[in-house]
Amino acid sequence: MRLLIEDARTSSSALAASEKHLANFVAHLQEVARTKTYAYNESSINLPTDKRLFAASQKLAKKLGGRKLKYVVVVGIGGSNLGTKAVYDALHGAFDLEHPQHFPKMLFADTCDARLISALEDVVKSIRHPEEIVVNIVSKSGGTTETAVNADILLATLRKRIKHAERRVVVTTDVGSKLWDLAEKLGMEHLPLPDLVGGRYSVLSPVGLFPLALAGIDTKKLCSGAADMQKHCLDEKSRNNPAMQSATILAAQLRSGKNINDNFFFHPELESLGKWYRQLMGESLGKSKTRSGKKQTKALTPTVSIGSTDLHSMGQLYLGGPKDKVTTFVTSKKTGHAEIPKNGKMSKLVHGIAGKDAADVMRAIFGGVTAAYRKQGVPFMHVELDDLSEKSLGAFLQFKMIEMMFLGEIFDVNAFDQPQVELYKVETKKLLL
Ligand code: PA5
Repeated sequence: MRLLIEDARTSSSALAASEKHLANFVAHLQEVARTKTYAYNESSINLPTDKRLFAASQKLAKKLGGRKLKYVVVVGIGGSNLGTKAVYDALHGAFDLEHPQHFPKMLFADTCDARLISALEDVVKSIRHPEEIVVNIVSKSGGTTETAVNADILLATLRKRIKHAERRVVVTTDVGSKLWDLAEKLGMEHLPLPDLVGGRYSVLSPVGLFPLALAGIDTKKLCSGAADMQKHCLDEKSRNNPAMQSATILAAQLRSGKNINDNFFFHPELESLGKWYRQLMGESLGKSKTRSGKKQTKALTPTVSIGSTDLHSMGQLYLGGPKDKVTTFVTSKKTGHAEIPKNGKMSKLVHGIAGKDAADVMRAIFGGVTAAYRKQGVPFMHVELDDLSEKSLGAFLQFKMIEMMFLGEIFDVNAFDQPQVELYKVETKKLLL
């Protein structure tokens, strides 16, 4: 993975100042990594090298997986499913319609939309053997309304369909949560996640590792990509540290009025990865107070765009509208191939496409977009992934999680809590009583 600073360049003195400002925090992160414990807010950086949690996820995936497995249904919301969905969609999910015979498929129940959940019930009703399905209920707190609703509906359907339905259910939650106790009581398999690892930093814990391994994804490579990236992102020198560079630039851009960070993925299958990042940034930086109790009025608002699709809907705003955005483009060096016929009739309509690969056309569009951004003075960075493999996805996830910790430090906000998310949960529970 390479981070190209492109047109969001900040002065070398600003980078040096940030390096100085973040020096103690980098030393702290290095200490967290040395201890290999979960005693710190930042401890999620230790997940990719945690052999115990990895082995627990792998062992259970091996026990419940197999040739007959068709569906891995993840019941969870926010930090409990976005990371898993990001990785699955990037590798398989975006092609599920085109590859109907590819199994196992992952299905996600997050919000409790009645039509969608009843469609998932239809999937449960369609199975012929218990080995065809695993339901993974994921909730850090163990008390999220939507997750309880979806889990109960699907469990009731599963019980009608197969005997010993509980044997095909795995619960992932904090040790000692009410859900943990319930799983024990009902004889369901259960996996822990470390106490101080919040939902949005948990994708490399059993929250993501178990269901992804069950779906046949190489989680070893995912973790090795993240572990390699961790080393770079704990480097004291900003020139070697993409997370520090990116955080410094985003902060500098925000200070100069760019309060929207558009994450522009030039691969539609990375849209869910963008949504994972949206939660990571939104919940980590969207705070009303700094850690020292001062009023906090600034935050970056993350948005997700897909190239080239959204150029045809949002391009005008991005290039002609208010100069309030800093863009992070994400592309991959290696991608698929799809040859355009040399003598195709349609190619005659657009000069220069006949005989080329669709990937080359996409590269040309990306080149055109960056040229236009430069001309219009819209600042941007460019993250270039080596490819769209598990390893590269793991690297990207870790890069962005550590970038967010740096941003929390720069803005002096707690990047690990989400006090206001609770507000709607409390109010909803009152209405349901
Ligand atoms: O980051 C967060 O804390 C939230 O978005 C949660 O992930 C989300 O509300 C789901 O919570 P839980 O995992 O406790 O069910």
